[in-house]
Amino acid sequence: MGDALIQAARAAQANAYAPYSRYAVGAALETADGRIFPGANVESAALGLTNCAERVALGAAVAAGAREFTRIVVVTDSSPPAAPCGACRQVLAEFGSDITVEAVGPSGARRWRLGDLLPDAFGHADLER
Ligand code: THU
Repeated sequence: MGDALIQAARAAQANAYAPYSRYAVGAALETADGRIFPGANVESAALGLTNCAERVALGAAVAAGAREFTRIVVVTDSSPPAAPCGACRQVLAEFGSDITVEAVGPSGARRWRLGDLLPDAFGHADLER
């Protein structure tokens, strides 16, 4: 069900490696030129080394040369659908605050502009002092 980005995020959720939390997350990131990069959470027995689905998708996209993003869909089984964690918001904000963030779950969807989820994000301009 849903559009191609939602379908990609759902497919990625099925591939989540989450044996510790048993909380599967799928993400799919769309680039300005229409490419789609999926991600799933990848947990580790060294629990703090877990990678979130959103940052897995972003890393794959950047590794493929993408720099401009329009939308990310995050699929969980939470109701209401869970928004991305703070760390993922910050890392996504590296690439712009206009990205649409869409959370999808069993009870529907919610969407935001990234800049509204993370106002006053730390950014490269702050490094200029
Ligand atoms: N998780 C994500 O993949 N994305 C988020 O935005 C929040 C949390 C994952 C990390 C961990 O594998 C599981 O969900 C429970 O925290």
